[in-house]
Amino acid sequence: MSDIKNIIFRNQRLRSSEVLRSLTSETKLSKDYLIFPIFIKAGNNIKSEIKSMPDIYQLSIDNALKEISSAIDVGIKSFILFGIPDNKDEIGSSAFANDGIIQQALREIKKHFPDILLITDLCMCEYTSHGHCGVIKNKNLDNDATLKLLNKQALSLANNGADMIAPSGMIDGVVESLRYCLDHNGFKNLPILSYSAKYASSFYGPFREAAESEPEFGDRKKYQMHSANKKEAIKEVLHDISEGADIVMIKPALSYLDVINELKNKIHIPIAAYSVSGEYSMIKAASKMGWIDEKSAMNEILLSIKRAGADMIITYFAKDFAKNNK
Ligand code: PBG
Repeated sequence: MSDIKNIIFRNQRLRSSEVLRSLTSETKLSKDYLIFPIFIKAGNNIKSEIKSMPDIYQLSIDNALKEISSAIDVGIKSFILFGIPDNKDEIGSSAFANDGIIQQALREIKKHFPDILLITDLCMCEYTSHGHCGVIKNKNLDNDATLKLLNKQALSLANNGADMIAPSGMIDGVVESLRYCLDHNGFKNLPILSYSAKYASSFYGPFREAAESEPEFGDRKKYQMHSANKKEAIKEVLHDISEGADIVMIKPALSYLDVINELKNKIHIPIAAYSVSGEYSMIKAASKMGWIDEKSAMNEILLSIKRAGADMIITYFAKDFAKNNK
C-alpha cells in the first residue's frame, strides 16, 4: 500500500491560530463600508426608542446631531436619513417643503459635520396620509404622477445639501426621471443610489413602526417585488444601470444573498445591501432572550452579506459594529 493513501487533508492547519485565521480570511468587513440609518422627527428634545428596534430612536434634530456625533466618534462616516414629518397629506407635500423635516435636518447636520456623507431616502410613504409610496388613484399607485413628485422631493433635498439621492419606492423609470431632472437643475454630479431590487418583505415591519409609514389600506405588493424572483431582480438592476444609477441596492439582505451573489460578477458598479429592520430586530430579540450571542451574530451576518458580494451595507448595527471593531 502506498503512503500517499494515508494522507489526510489537514484543513485545520490554517485555522490553528488567530494570526493564521486572520491571514487566510477571504473577506474583511470594515466600518468604512457601513451606512447608519437615522430617523428624524419634527420637534425638540425628542428621543423615543422604537419598541421593536432596541437602541434605535426617533430623534429630533438636536438629538440626531448627538447621535451622529457619537457615530462619527467610532468611525462611521455615512448616514441615510428618514423623516417623520409633523403633518401628512394625500400627496405627501411635506416631502418637498423647504421647511420639511429632512430639509431642516440636512442644513443643521451639514453645518456641524460638513465632511460626512448624507444619503437621503427618497419616497413618499412617510409623508402621505394613506402611507403608500406615491400618488394614489382608485386605490392604485399612479406611477407616472409619482415621478413628478419625486423629482420635486429630490430637487428640494439636493438644494438643502443631500450628498446622494436614494429612491426607494420601486417606481418604474425613477432613475431616468431623476437623472434628467437633477442634470437640468445644476446637480450633474449628485449620485443616485437606487433601491433597484426591493422585495415586498415582512422584514420591514419594525421600520414601519419607526417611520410611522404603515399603509392605511392594502400592501405594497403591486410595486415591490415577489420574494420568489431572482431573474426579475437582475432585470430591475440592469434597467437602473442603463438609466444612470451610480449604485444599486438589494433589499432586504439576508434572505436575498443569492441575488447579491448573482449580481457580484455580472455588473460593474457598486452593490449596496440593506440589512433591514426585521433582520436587526430578530438578533436583538433572540439575544435579549439569551438565545444567541448578539455581537457574534451581528458580525457573522454582516460578514455574510459582504461575502455574498455587497460592497456596502446599510445596517442599524453600524455604530455597534464600529465600536467593536476599532
Ligand atoms: C420606504 C422604505 C422602507 C424601508 C426603507 N425605505 C419601507 C417600506 O417599503 O415599507 C425599510 C427599511 C427597513 O425595514 O429597515 N421609504
